[in-house]
Amino acid sequence: MNSVQNQLQLKKMYRILAKVNDLSGEMERLSDADLQAVTGKLRGELRNGAALDSLLPRAFAAMREASKRVLGKFPYDVQVLGGIALHQGKIAEMKTGEGKTLVATMPLYLNALTGKGCILVTTNSYLAARDGEELKPLYRFMGMTEAVGVSPEEGGQLTNAQKKRVYASDIVYTTNDALAFDYLFENLESSAESRYLRGMNYVIVDEADSVLLDSAQIPLIVSGMPRVQSNLFGIADYFVTTLEKDRDYKTEDKNVWLTQPGIRKAERFFSVKRHELYTPEHEAIIRHINLALRAHVILKKEERYIVRDRSVCLLDEKTGRVQPSTKLRCGQHQALEAKEHVTITEESRAVAAVTYQSYFNMYRKLAGMTGTGAHDADEFRQIYGLDTVIVPTRKKVQRVDYPDLVYPNQSAQMHAALREVLHVHESGQPVLVIASSIQMSDLFSEMLLDQGIPHNVLNAYNIPKEAAIIQEAGQKDAVTVATAVAGRGTDIRLGDGVPEMGGLAVIGIGLMVNKRQELQGRGRSGRQGDPGFSRFYLSLDDEVVLEYGKKWLNSCRKGTKAIRNRRILRAVHNAQRIASDMARASRKATRDFGESMEKQRNLIYETRNRVMNQVPLESSYYLEMERLVVEHYLDHLGHLPDPDDAVRFVMDNISYEFGGFPSEEMLNTKEKAVNYLMQQAEEALERKSAELGSRDILEKYYRLMTLHAIDQAWVEQVDYLQQLRQVISGRQYARHNAKFVFPQEAYKGFEKMQMEIRAGIMRNILLGEPVWEKDGKLRILYP
Ligand SMILES: Nc1ncnc2c1ncn2[C@@H]1O[C@H](COP(=O)(O)OP(=O)(O)OP(=O)(O)O)[C@@H](O)[C@H]1O
Ligand SMILES: [Mg+2]
Repeated sequence: MNSVQNQLQLKKMYRILAKVNDLSGEMERLSDADLQAVTGKLRGELRNGAALDSLLPRAFAAMREASKRVLGKFPYDVQVLGGIALHQGKIAEMKTGEGKTLVATMPLYLNALTGKGCILVTTNSYLAARDGEELKPLYRFMGMTEAVGVSPEEGGQLTNAQKKRVYASDIVYTTNDALAFDYLFENLESSAESRYLRGMNYVIVDEADSVLLDSAQIPLIVSGMPRVQSNLFGIADYFVTTLEKDRDYKTEDKNVWLTQPGIRKAERFFSVKRHELYTPEHEAIIRHINLALRAHVILKKEERYIVRDRSVCLLDEKTGRVQPSTKLRCGQHQALEAKEHVTITEESRAVAAVTYQSYFNMYRKLAGMTGTGAHDADEFRQIYGLDTVIVPTRKKVQRVDYPDLVYPNQSAQMHAALREVLHVHESGQPVLVIASSIQMSDLFSEMLLDQGIPHNVLNAYNIPKEAAIIQEAGQKDAVTVATAVAGRGTDIRLGDGVPEMGGLAVIGIGLMVNKRQELQGRGRSGRQGDPGFSRFYLSLDDEVVLEYGKKWLNSCRKGTKAIRNRRILRAVHNAQRIASDMARASRKATRDFGESMEKQRNLIYETRNRVMNQVPLESSYYLEMERLVVEHYLDHLGHLPDPDDAVRFVMDNISYEFGGFPSEEMLNTKEKAVNYLMQQAEEALERKSAELGSRDILEKYYRLMTLHAIDQAWVEQVDYLQQLRQVISGRQYARHNAKFVFPQEAYKGFEKMQMEIRAGIMRNILLGEPVWEKDGKLRILYP
């Protein structure tokens, strides 16, 4: 992040801030009613063509005044600056505790004046509900409707009617998963009435680094109907047991791939011609080999899963607990079942999928706020096209961040950290211990118990309860042990007398996977200019060091004293850099995959929307479509159809009851064949529309048949893309440049799908059956 650039951006923002400040006095003098009337005036000006930017000073100044009257908080200048950055569609980096919750109210209000709906997204439903409820009176005061888009009960679901009401509000507070799943589910609905989302207008993402970067790759998948069971699982499993490590396959960082000799063996085993295994025709085989290899080499029993009652149960990687009713995706679970020789369960297919990366990129305007954004400014730029602005803090940060202490091993590290915690605690100064893993937090908690020190432990199991605990972490004598994610977004207020003792002490244990998490941890202290300090205790046994550190560090694990050797210290910190570089590279790969899927999804969803609102009724439209289908069929048949071919095509696609059998002569040129088949289609379509009668019914019938065809084909395609992605993420394909292979293959699949949709629509319309129920309602039987 270039500071000159930042200064330039800020300079312009200060000019806007001055305009907002100029209006303070005027707003202050308004009566409540007059202040509230500002909303109507601004809306009117907007309707008359005023630009949103030109309304900013008045809108912000009015919200600021309203915030003072309703909540007793007048947004500080730096908060207004943050609000300006958010309005401009940027990432606002504002340190922890600077009051980002209030910052977002100003741009949300301004942008909601358009009536198009604005959304604030945060990481968990506790925070969404808390902020939404707290700010509701403020929005209501200014004549805006606001709603919370998550269910008040843990794990509860809103009904479609509730969702409709929520999304019709001017401003919605919700979480990233609730929002993205709503999007996927809505696009599986079949009538315009059951839709609830509005256009993707403006979204502000709180804790933007966590949502937009750390969770960027998690695919949200809605799974549906079972896939046709493949018998390749057992065969591939057997094949893999004949392979020898290092000769036939290699493994590194949770990847496993076949070597040349391994590929040769597979080609012989599956009777594939030499050098042809990695071609699209044999995709199913590669996929099953990859799954079986992963099942045998990467997914260790007792570590990732256990076998209980003859079924495979997954374990949570972090906690080691059994995760009931979760399954690995895309056939991996079935491959494990084959490995363990238990019954192979049904593999369900993905019916809709999206990643946060591609979802948030669809918004017309996207903005984010976080305590730590500058570190990844380049990535925000590349992936989301977002600029980052570092907003200065209101008061100078007083917290002192001491240099890390690095110990040779975990035991020395934990004891040193314990000594400091005990020492700080003696004076009554509150201590927040932030551990890099749940195991470490448990271990440390036991050590504190041994010493008889009362303390709270949180590891993000029960977010509302933990928020209440962490709020108390700034009181005298408090000792709190947490993981990096626990309590994020919750304010820590210092108790009476605590500032004089030196504020909150943050003691970190273990190297965090990236700099951002580390800074979020340190930032729990020193909020709003409070005093405080932070220090991290690291060791060569830290997970990140073990996984990403240089091998020679292994020989430096003896001893109990803090390490001073610069070469070792550098190597430890490099491990964190490598870990975040790897994460970044993998996010980039996700984006490349995501792009081709996104284009297709947009097209499909647009088509669906169009169809839901209106379908053509003219038969000429459908006959055009049928002509394409017929021509495609004839082109792919490879020869002129004989009467049997033609009859089969008619029975499969046009009509079960048709007049005379064609003679060979009627089919002896392509043109004649087309004419014959089109003749059949034309007659069938006429019969169908006569049977359906009124325009309304005809329209409904066409619409449902069309949607059904689109959905069927799209479900296949989503599933195909997911599988394709898995196949080509193997090393062998990586050499061919996955980025290049993926869109090509995906595009071929897409063209095929478009033809299938046409054929599906026509087949549904011509072969589907309208049935009138006793009550006169139309029910439709799909072919
Ligand atoms: N203008 C203001 N006047 C008075 N208090 C304020 C103001 N703005 C924010 N606060 C208070 O400051 C505290 C911190 O606010 P908030 O939780 O929004 O910070 P944050 O920047 O989101 O922090 P984090 O990064 O930890 O999520 C809250 O108690 C809030 O009520
Ligand atoms: Mg916050």
